[in-house]
Amino acid sequence: MEIILGQALFLLFCSILACFFTFSTTRSKRKSPGAVVTPPGPPRLPIIGNIHLVGKNPHRSFADLSKTYGPIMSLKFGSLNTVVIASPEAAREVLRTHDQILSYRSPTNSIRSLNHHKVSVVWLPSSSAHWRMLRKLSVNLLFSPQRIEATKALRLRKMKELVSFMSESSEREEAVDISRASFITTLNIISNILFSVDLGSYDSKKSSAFQDAVTGLMEAIGNPDLANYFPFLRYLDLQGNTKSIKVCTDRLFMAFRGFINAKIAERLLRNNHNEVSNIDFVDALLQFTERDEAELNTNDIEHLLLDMFGAGTDTNSSTVEWAMSELLRNPKTLAKAQAEIDRVIGQKGVVEESDILELPYLAAVVKETFRLHPAAPLLVPRKAEADVEVLGYLVPKDTQVLVNVWAIGRDPSVWENPMKFEPERFMGKDIDVKGRDYELTPFGAGRRICPGLPLAVKIVPLMLASLLYSFDWKLPNDVVSEELDMDETFGLTLHKTKPLHAVPVKKRTH
Ligand code: HEM
Repeated sequence: MEIILGQALFLLFCSILACFFTFSTTRSKRKSPGAVVTPPGPPRLPIIGNIHLVGKNPHRSFADLSKTYGPIMSLKFGSLNTVVIASPEAAREVLRTHDQILSYRSPTNSIRSLNHHKVSVVWLPSSSAHWRMLRKLSVNLLFSPQRIEATKALRLRKMKELVSFMSESSEREEAVDISRASFITTLNIISNILFSVDLGSYDSKKSSAFQDAVTGLMEAIGNPDLANYFPFLRYLDLQGNTKSIKVCTDRLFMAFRGFINAKIAERLLRNNHNEVSNIDFVDALLQFTERDEAELNTNDIEHLLLDMFGAGTDTNSSTVEWAMSELLRNPKTLAKAQAEIDRVIGQKGVVEESDILELPYLAAVVKETFRLHPAAPLLVPRKAEADVEVLGYLVPKDTQVLVNVWAIGRDPSVWENPMKFEPERFMGKDIDVKGRDYELTPFGAGRRICPGLPLAVKIVPLMLASLLYSFDWKLPNDVVSEELDMDETFGLTLHKTKPLHAVPVKKRTH
């Protein structure tokens, strides 16, 4: 209701402004011969700039505009100067050549409302010592090859729980909400890696307050917010985002505090704090804080946990949902992926991580899903720390820089038949998602590349392979596979507007 009211106020605001002002143009003027100009962009309305050109799905609106204005384009949203990148060459310039200058962040209003940007690994500028420490801690204590290996058994256990939940639905011949099931699986993997607790439940009657708070937080952060463009609106909270975010984060921080305090008490009871071999992330962070020179406090730990849940759950689960949707829409591709899995796993009864390396077609299915449905279609907004020249254009200091990886993934000059789901295009090719191939960077690249990549590239294929190995899949009666609704909703992550429901049918062979 508050959101609708906010949108109505916004439309009114825009129309009044449009009545009073005339068009201006953004084409930058060459100040003197040889001087660098800002990138081209569409004409702007005074005050609101180009806000009226951004629809519900900004990545789509930007992709359309880039067809006219080119791979590096200027837009203005209220007081916020923005540059949108839409080609692999331009992405390379931003994410590699000028990575250092363009690695600042542009925190949204909701992030500021929590003071999260002052302590967050996602939002701190990359030049800050605190960011470097948080990033190093995350990489070493969560995502190093040793830590990924140490949590392998946990992921296998969570896949077995997912398969067992699907088996129950299969016996009842019931359709399952794939988005919810994969979200709960990912949530439990991450909550166990962080502090050895299950926080999600497949049983909808037992749905936990924590699970609801994570989902609520993501929705609120993903909502459009006028205060991002007009900072003076911050205190009015027209769309109610700040209020919703506060409610959800209060709940999450309270839960985190409970887990951290329990760990501290447990550590005090033990004589040798570090004797436990199988420590989780919070254990490891507490060990770190006990060092004299450590500049990390409980508040930092709570915000770091918030970042990991915020960045790590929805991204994984929506990728699995998109992959399953594409496979159900393309039965031949589904059959081919299943045939490969059956051939490699045979009668073993369970898919293990070591099997994944033997499944190149499945790997291609995952890449094709990242190409068409990147979880963060504009990456996480970056900001210019200083004036910088990109492809001959000036990107002034403090400009927000968005890399439209969604548009690059669907560009016909980069991909043949870009709108078709064809994993075959990756077979025998060297293209990967690890930030070196600028036509496919769903995890970003450079110094701000997603640190969770090593975990995500384990979870996504393993979950997909487990679902495809144990079950055949049917769409509910009234849905025809070619007509499966693939509409997207832009938010913190790019979601399927209508969650995928599918019926698991237990395979007879294993
Ligand atoms: C399919 C899964 C995932 C996708 C597609 C994804 C994508 C991204 C993207 C695009 C960025 C911004 C990169 C940039 O600015 O260039 C990012 C940043 C980040 N991701 Fe992920 N991510 C995924 C999973 C995870 C997981 C599992 C975690 C942790 C548990 C995680 C934690 C983070 C963090 C902390 C950042 C901020 C890094 C920084 O700003 O320095 N992500 N991710």
